[in-house]
Amino acid sequence: MPPSETKTRIDWIASSCRLLQSTAAEFARTRPFTGLTIGTAIHLEPKTAALLTTLQAGGARLVATGNLNSTQPETIAYLSAHDIAVIGEQTTDAAAHGRFLDAILAEKPDLLLDNGGDLFARVAERGYPALRGGTEETTSGRARLAPLRDAIKVPVLVINDSPIKQFAENRHAVGQSLFESYMRFTNRSTNGKRVTVFGYGACGKGVAACFRNAYSVVSVVDVNPVTTLEAHLDGFATPLREQAIRGADVLVTVTGAPDIITAIDLPLLKDGAILINGGHLPHEIAVAAIAADKSVVETMRYPSEGIETFRFSDGRTIHVLGEGHMANLAGPRPLGNSVESMDLGFTLQARCLERVAHGIGPGHCVVPVPADIDAAVAEAYLAINR
Ligand SMILES: NC(=O)c1ccc[n+]([C@@H]2O[C@H](COP(=O)([O-])OP(=O)(O)OC[C@H]3O[C@@H](n4cnc5c(N)ncnc54)[C@H](O)[C@@H]3O)[C@@H](O)[C@H]2O)c1
Repeated sequence: MPPSETKTRIDWIASSCRLLQSTAAEFARTRPFTGLTIGTAIHLEPKTAALLTTLQAGGARLVATGNLNSTQPETIAYLSAHDIAVIGEQTTDAAAHGRFLDAILAEKPDLLLDNGGDLFARVAERGYPALRGGTEETTSGRARLAPLRDAIKVPVLVINDSPIKQFAENRHAVGQSLFESYMRFTNRSTNGKRVTVFGYGACGKGVAACFRNAYSVVSVVDVNPVTTLEAHLDGFATPLREQAIRGADVLVTVTGAPDIITAIDLPLLKDGAILINGGHLPHEIAVAAIAADKSVVETMRYPSEGIETFRFSDGRTIHVLGEGHMANLAGPRPLGNSVESMDLGFTLQARCLERVAHGIGPGHCVVPVPADIDAAVAEAYLAINR
């Protein structure tokens, strides 16, 4: 019998991140982060573990915490076993999360890897001289940090603003993983279902395409008329908001903006409607206000399934998935976006941190990934996959 070994899912993910593996092998030779501490606040799930061990291979000391709700205990155990200090635990308590972020910054990291702007928003209030700069992963984080440029001062490269991140992750991978999450949470079919997607940005385009490919009848609602025209020309229905809500079996929010579906909309919702959020923050569906609305006469919770069902006085029910948190990182067995998309995005992260560590200049506060890094990462991915 040949030798056999039982491995974990994190091992599977790490071995599937081929770009990060080759980057780690290079970093082990070049050691770009020797003597530096990197503080991170990003979803602690298996693909992030592959990124953090890559940075560690480059000589970094790491102090890591997660984002609200998405921290996975197995990932904490894996990182701890690899000498990566993890602060905090899975929580939906914003105050507790804030304390974890403060503890990261108390270590005075030389570089920060942020996801949603939580760390750099604090830096804007109380920066420190050792900070060289860092990276921000998301659309929501860029929107939050751009007005704070004058206070942040140090270079911050926004991974989301790389075209690679836009098409590889936001468009293709978020669409697939939110679609997968709808099926995973509900075990319901998509065929013939009326699906309304709120937001036709990069993420919304992928979501709309995935449901259409699965035989749903898809409508798009976007506040931007130019984007709505694009959805129309892409062949999606673009009804007015109220009509789109009335007809929908499934409502997906993926805008980055708050209060996309609120308690005011409850009378419009169809009996049995399913609400699912893909935006970064759990504020697109106003779940607390919906739960507290006087028309709700009964709430049924299925904690292990991540489903809440609200029954109204007129007999209708609606279902909210993952308490309105990003569904692809919530609920039972949350897998997040595909390995390949995250391998690309996290290789951009590693290369951008390497660039900031070695000086990119103060004019780079909240700016896109430099074009030469995009080109090098694209070449490397194509070379592996040819
Ligand atoms: N779930 C994930 O894994 C994942 C991954 C990447 C990004 N995100 C998040 O998804 C969200 C969207 O990201 P994106 O890259 O598509 O952003 P984007 O800026 O490209 O698109 C957002 C779209 O929403 C529209 N919009 C804004 N307010 C609206 C409203 N009130 N009603 C309807 N439409 C509205 C905008 O006009 C825009 O077209 C962000 O919060 C981002 O952080 C999630």
